[in-house]
Order: sequence, then C-alpha cells, then structure tokens
Amino acid sequence: MDAFGSEQHVVRGKKERVGTGLDRLDMLLEGGFPSNSVTLVSGTPGSGKTILCYHYIKAGLDNGEKCLYLTSDERIENIMHEANLFGFDFYSAVESGQLKFKYLDLDRSSFHREMDEEVKSGRYSRVVLDSLTPVAEAPVWVTSGGHEIIPAENATISTTYPIGSVPATRVHVRRIMSILNNENCTTLVTSEIPEGERCLSRDSISEFLVDGIILMDVDPTMDRRKLSVRKMRGTKHTLKPQNIEINETGIKFA
Ligand SMILES: Nc1ncnc2c1ncn2[C@@H]1O[C@H](COP(=O)(O)OP(=O)(O)O)[C@@H](O)[C@H]1O
Ligand SMILES: [Mg+2]
Repeated sequence: MDAFGSEQHVVRGKKERVGTGLDRLDMLLEGGFPSNSVTLVSGTPGSGKTILCYHYIKAGLDNGEKCLYLTSDERIENIMHEANLFGFDFYSAVESGQLKFKYLDLDRSSFHREMDEEVKSGRYSRVVLDSLTPVAEAPVWVTSGGHEIIPAENATISTTYPIGSVPATRVHVRRIMSILNNENCTTLVTSEIPEGERCLSRDSISEFLVDGIILMDVDPTMDRRKLSVRKMRGTKHTLKPQNIEINETGIKFA
C-alpha cells in the first residue's frame, strides 16, 4: 500500500463506492461511482463538466488518495488557477506528489503509450481525462503495411484518416477506454456535446464503452442548469434531471 492508498473507497452495503465530491450526487448514486468504473461526463460547453472533475479530485485528495488529471490543454498552471478560484487548492497536492497533472500532446503519436504508462506506473485511485473530445479527434497513423491503425511510436506514417472519421475516432476511444478499464482506478472522462445536439457524446461511441454517464445540461432561456444520471452500472438511480447551480464554490444542488 502506498502513502496515499490508505482509505480509497467508501463502502456502502456490499458495493464499493467512490465518493463523487458532491453529497447529493453520492445520494443519487447509492454512495458514489462504482469502484474501478469509467464514467462519461457529457454536456455542452460551459455546462460544468470541468468543475465536476475538480470536486471529484478534491474529494480524492481529502481522502488521502492519489489522483491523476489528464488533459490535452498544456496550460496546466491555468487549470490550477481556475480551480483555485473555486476554492480547490491543488498546488500543495501537486507539490507533495499526491496529485499529478499530465499534459497529453496529441501531435505526438506516442500519446496513448504515455498515458498508459502514467496510469499504470502511478497507482492512482482516481483519474480524470478532461476532455476526451480532442483526443478522439486526433489523427490516426496507418503503418506502411496498412494492418495497424494505432498511432504506434515507430510507425511509418503513410496515411491518415481524415479527422472526425469514424474509424479514427473508434480506434482512439477504444484504446483510451481499455487503458482506463485495465487499472484499479475510478475514472471520469469528459466529452463535449455540440450545442443543440441530442447525442450523449460527440464521438457517439464512448457512451457504449463506459459504466456510467452523467449528463450536464444548460437551459439558456430559463437560465437553469441540470445534471442527470443517464446510466450507472449496478446502481438503482433516478433518471430525473436535477437542478444545479454554479457559484464561486463550484456546483451546488438547488
Ligand atoms: N464564480 C462563478 N459563478 C457562477 N458561475 C460560474 C462561476 N465560474 C464559472 N461559472 C460558470 O461555469 C462555466 C464553466 O464551467 P466548466 O465546468 O468549465 O464547463 P465545461 O462543461 O465546459 O467544462 C462558465 O461558463 C460559467 O457559466
Ligand atoms: Mg471543460
């Protein structure tokens, strides 16, 4: 057991649960996310996906857990600063090594491997990938033989699928999900839904590969925000959208 592995999970009844960081969401989910699950947090831009991830990481840090935040945004300092504006102080956890922010450079064909190695080597109990969308849209390199369509480190780059093509997206999403599924961590993966669309993720594949789906929604006309649990493995939950607010301390249930 490592220095941060002492009290990893909240146990309610027979099922191991991982606290979400929001009491009301824990109540909706019979205690939290199922241990070792992958949950997709999908919603339009500005719907609160990233803030939900901050709450989740904060809960892990408070519980003495080791946490990993994967992002394709290289401005890590900005992320920590923004989190700090909501009162989430991640600086000391980064300094002590309890929390790691890892930048995924999507222009490098090795980003899957780098992510895989980090997830495996760090023994993290909580992982956030914010956001899956640019990762799923990264180009795919095809090896010269044409048999391998993963972005392999030493591949001879001959062809790329057009960005946004279904095979490219599927390759990325499947690989990412298998990396996250294979480890003893409980993961949140955010996904952008374009404004006005009724799908559950932009790639329209990831929702079939995850254990849970949390949908974040905004109603600009009514100036209201909602959060719904659309799917959660092994959990009896309401599908009813819950009214939420965002304020200077993050997400609040109304
Ligand atoms: N202090 C605040 N008070 C109220 N709302 C805020 C505050 N800070 C940010 N917000 C809202 O939160 C949104 C950003 O939430 P975020 O989690 O980053 O969205 P996304 O779903 O794109 O990740 C902003 O667009 C704004 O509407
Ligand atoms: Mg975001």
